[in-house]
Amino acid sequence: MMSPTRLAGTLVPAMAFLSCLKPETWEPCVEVVPDITYQCMELNLYKIPDNIPSSTKNLDLSFNPLRHLGSHSFSSFPELQVLDLSRCEIQTIEDAAYQSLNHLSTLILTGNPIQSLALRAFSGLSSLQKLVAVETNLASLENFPIGHLKTLKEINVAHNHIHSLKLPEYFSNLTNLEHLDLSNNKIQNIYHKDLQVLHPISLINLSLDLSLNPIDFIQSGAFKDIRLHKLTLRSNFNSMNEMKTCIQGLAGLKVHQFVLGEFRNERNMEDFDISVLNGLCNLTIKEFRFACLYHDFSDATDLFNCLANVSTISLIHLNLDRLEGLPNNVRWQSLELVTCKLEQFPTLEIPSLKRFIFTAHKSGYTFAEFKLPSLEFLDLSRNGLNFKGCCSHTDFGTTKLEHLDLSFNAVITMSSNFLGLEQLKYLDFQHSHLKQTSDFPVFLSLKNLLYLDISYTNILVAFRGIFNGLSSLQTLKMAGNSFQGNLLPEIFTNLSHLTFLDLSECQLEHVSQEAFNSLLRLQLLNMSNNHLVSLDLCPYQHLKSLQVLDYSFNRIVTSKKQELLHLPSSLTFLNLTQNAFACTCEHQSFLQWVKDQRQHLVQVEQMVCATPLDMQEMSVLSFRNATCQMSKTIISVSVLSVLVVSFVVVLVYKFYFHLMLLAGCKKYGRGESTYDAFVIYSSQDEDWVRNELVKNLEEGVPPFKLCLHYRDFIPGVAIAANIIQEGFHKSRKVIVVVSQHFIQSRWCIFEYEIAQTWQFLSSHAGIIFIVLQKVEKSLLRQQVELYRLLSRNTYLEWEDSVLGRHIFWRRLRKALLDGKPWSPEGTADAECN
Ligand SMILES: *[C@@H]1O[C@H](CO)[C@@H](O)[C@H](O)[C@H]1NC(C)=O
Ligand SMILES: *[C@@H]1O[C@H](CO)[C@@H](O)[C@H](O)[C@H]1NC(C)=O
Ligand SMILES: *[C@@H]1O[C@H](CO)[C@@H](O)[C@H](O)[C@H]1NC(C)=O
Ligand SMILES: *[C@@H]1O[C@H](CO)[C@@H](O)[C@H](O)[C@H]1NC(C)=O
Ligand SMILES: *[C@@H]1O[C@H](CO)[C@@H](O)[C@H](O)[C@H]1NC(C)=O
Ligand SMILES: *[C@@H]1O[C@H](CO)[C@@H](O)[C@H](O)[C@H]1NC(C)=O
Ligand SMILES: *[C@@H]1O[C@H](CO)[C@@H](O)[C@H](O)[C@H]1NC(C)=O
Ligand SMILES: *[C@@H]1O[C@H](CO)[C@@H](O)[C@H](O)[C@H]1NC(C)=O
Repeated sequence: MMSPTRLAGTLVPAMAFLSCLKPETWEPCVEVVPDITYQCMELNLYKIPDNIPSSTKNLDLSFNPLRHLGSHSFSSFPELQVLDLSRCEIQTIEDAAYQSLNHLSTLILTGNPIQSLALRAFSGLSSLQKLVAVETNLASLENFPIGHLKTLKEINVAHNHIHSLKLPEYFSNLTNLEHLDLSNNKIQNIYHKDLQVLHPISLINLSLDLSLNPIDFIQSGAFKDIRLHKLTLRSNFNSMNEMKTCIQGLAGLKVHQFVLGEFRNERNMEDFDISVLNGLCNLTIKEFRFACLYHDFSDATDLFNCLANVSTISLIHLNLDRLEGLPNNVRWQSLELVTCKLEQFPTLEIPSLKRFIFTAHKSGYTFAEFKLPSLEFLDLSRNGLNFKGCCSHTDFGTTKLEHLDLSFNAVITMSSNFLGLEQLKYLDFQHSHLKQTSDFPVFLSLKNLLYLDISYTNILVAFRGIFNGLSSLQTLKMAGNSFQGNLLPEIFTNLSHLTFLDLSECQLEHVSQEAFNSLLRLQLLNMSNNHLVSLDLCPYQHLKSLQVLDYSFNRIVTSKKQELLHLPSSLTFLNLTQNAFACTCEHQSFLQWVKDQRQHLVQVEQMVCATPLDMQEMSVLSFRNATCQMSKTIISVSVLSVLVVSFVVVLVYKFYFHLMLLAGCKKYGRGESTYDAFVIYSSQDEDWVRNELVKNLEEGVPPFKLCLHYRDFIPGVAIAANIIQEGFHKSRKVIVVVSQHFIQSRWCIFEYEIAQTWQFLSSHAGIIFIVLQKVEKSLLRQQVELYRLLSRNTYLEWEDSVLGRHIFWRRLRKALLDGKPWSPEGTADAECN
């Protein structure tokens, strides 16, 4: 048995050896821009990949366990400009690790637990502008070896363990430095000597962020005569007193922008009194921003006195009840109030104010007049504001207004057409509820207006003059409104400068033919999300500058061919996605047009069919009009053949027996007659046939052999077949016994008709008519053919007198003898028994 220690002693080196053998996972980096940008984030790389082109400029190696950067680590990427080494577990950076990266401008080292940073670690970075060393275990700026990086503009060393704001000597070398972020460090005290290096005018434009440092002391005069572009102090003070002394300590600072306050989720101070800010009087500030202090403070008179010479003041997320007691001498040019819990809509009188932003107070204020004679920019959006009698110069006490934003408010009633506000260039009402827009031309005075947004303002456009006067307008957004009768009328006349028009979600079903006739400069037209059924392009034919037409999300089924000719030639994007196309042969010219215009159609692959069922959700492009051709041919061919076949069938049916005759003629040929005559007669006349005809002809001299159906037809064979095979084919002549009964018998007439065909087919054959009794002429006439024959041909008339009979039989025999081959044998053969 091995002891556990010995076992471990063998296993551990063995495992170490195995882990060395274990291949590194070499997943390929993502090529974002070929040869330029590669992203190798989180690929479990242990070393810098070597399968990336040396021309790479942007390389993201974040989240790989690189751990150690030796010298010349990046020598194969001399073109690098941006290198991201965030969270690579780097502990050691050796001398000249970035040597030869002469073009590197951004180096990101965030989140590396650096233990050892060589003195010359950053050597060679001759173009470095931005160095991000957030969360890198940095304990002081003193030992940070960046003194030679003269091109640096931005240093971010937030989230480290820096205890002192002492800016080392080398800062005098960093003459381009603009941003120094020291937020979230451990700085407690700031002394006069710390900022000594900033005294020479060399660094006049520095922005310094000291937020989230637990500052409790600033030596008086530490910032005296120092110029900063921006100083940020948010969530720095634990108590009111600390804040007070620290602000006093800032005395003498000249700063362009000063940001003071807390962060919403980083609140330190228990209580607060507005008087602690009085120290601001000893600062020179251009822009003051005060944010997120949720302590109530009612009387800010002293503060505003101190800040009277500030040009821009922003009060954000404060519990400021009232904005009263404003000193007369304030020279503010811009005032921004965001979510300050004011009790009332502020009625200000600040002669110098050019810009007023009062926004995101969801309190349902009612608008009250104010007097700001210099005001040019007014943003009153997102306040739930009710405004009766909008708008004229008396409401705001200015005639200089250029920008007015009243979006996302409550009800705004239009009662004045912007009288005295002719300078307006930008007007936004979106998502407020506009009333009384249809009574008069509300925008009549706004001849300089360039931008108008009345989207989703509940307007039902009924008045055609609604946009009268807007002769300079370039952008009109009116999505989400509606039109009388869901018809777009001619409301855009004289808007000849319009380049952008949004009419989406307006429930439009029709567009007037002249609706867009004046819009010669229109470049983008949005008709999407309406209820248009047809792609009727006629109204768009005058839009000579149109580039984008969005017709998506409508109900378009198809378009007529002639309509499509009106497509403006300047159009480069036509969006027809999300419609209800019918992919049937009926609309094949439109579907072919879609294919032809493919390059202009946006996401043409996503234009899908809605009908027929078997094409549903399939791309319009997959429609094949070859199938249309084919089915047409198939249909016509099959219809034709059905017709022919049924015609033939009818014919065959009708002339079946005639055809059988024809077949028989070929088969039997001539001269094979067994009978001298086939007798056609009505069964009513059978007595006469038996007693007279048969007796006289078969028993006379010479004897004739007659074919009689009651006697000679072969039993078991269809009568019709017998008639033809036995009767006609084997007989030389046919005797037709015409009588009243004959004419009335359909069967006889049928036999007679076949006899006719038979006569026609076999030239030698003959039909002998025997008229048994006088037939009524009218009856006979019904059998036109028979009548004709009887009246044209001679026929034998049976006469029941001795002389008459004699003549009758003589004539009949003579007729029968005609063509009879006379041989005794033939006579013998002719036994029909
Ligand atoms: C300023 O840069 C030069 C080289 O460019 C260097 O010699 C000098 O030590 C730097 N100054 C400081 C204070 O680091
Ligand atoms: C100072 O820096 C800010 C950016 O921080 C820049 O906008 C401004 O133009 C700079 N001013 C001067 C005078 O360089
Ligand atoms: C301004 O600074 C002077 C001394 O520099 C001091 O006497 C005065 O009290 C300061 N004002 C305020 C309001 O802190
Ligand atoms: C504001 O400026 C005026 C003149 O420039 C000066 O008299 C006044 O003291 C200044 N006010 C403050 C609070 O700095
Ligand atoms: C349109 O402009 C013409 C002159 O350009 C003018 O006569 C006409 O009244 C204007 N129409 C409207 C509705 O503004
Ligand atoms: C048209 O309006 C819709 C919203 O209804 C929007 O999604 C789309 O992007 C707009 N089209 C263009 C070209 O701006
Ligand atoms: C239609 O296409 C245009 C142009 O590509 C695009 O801007 C617009 O957003 C599209 N419409 C919708 C509703 O996506
Ligand atoms: C489809 O039909 C169009 C006319 O409607 C024709 O120009 C085109 O050539 C046809 N394509 C095919 C493949 O038959």
